Amino acid sequence: MARSRKVLSFCFIQITAFSCLFFMAISQLSPDFYSDICPQALPTIRLVVYAAIVKEPRMGASLLRLHFHDCFVNGCDASVLLDDTQSFTGEKTAGPNNNSLRGFDVIDEIKAAVNLACFGNIVSCADILAVAARDSIVAVSFLQVNFF
Ligand SMILES: *[C@@H]1O[C@H](CO)[C@@H](O)[C@H](O)[C@H]1NC(C)=O
Repeated sequence: MARSRKVLSFCFIQITAFSCLFFMAISQLSPDFYSDICPQALPTIRLVVYAAIVKEPRMGASLLRLHFHDCFVNGCDASVLLDDTQSFTGEKTAGPNNNSLRGFDVIDEIKAAVNLACFGNIVSCADILAVAARDSIVAVSFLQVNFF
C-alpha cells in the first residue's frame, strides 16, 4: 500500500515535471527572464529561502508543496495565495489546503524582499512560488537537511 502510493506519487511527479517542460517549451519561458530587468531577483529569493530553511528545515518541503498545490488548479498562477473575501473562498482555505499548506509567511517575506531589491513590483508571485520551490530542493540537498 505504502509502496504503491510512493510509486504513484513518483509517477505523478514525473508527469508534472514533463508537463512543466512541455509548457516551458511551447510558451518560451526563460530561466534568465529577470537577468535584465532585475538581476537581484533570483539571488534575493534564494537568500530568503535558505534563511527560512536554516531556521526551520521542514520549510523546504512546505515550499515545494505550496508550488505543487498552486499548479494543481488551472496552472501555476499563484492563485493559491489569494485570501478569502466575503463572496469568495480562495484556494488557500479550500478543503485540501485549509490548515494544511504552510509557508505563506515565507512567500510574503520573499515578495517584500524582492520588491525592495527590484525597486518595485516586478517579479510575479507565480515565479516566486516556482523559484522558491526550486531553491528549496537545492537548499535541502545542499544543506543535507533531513526533513522527514
Ligand atoms: C478552514 O479552517 C478554519 C479553522 O479550522 C475553519 O473555521 C474554516 O471554516 C475552514 N474553511 C473552509 C473553507 O473549510
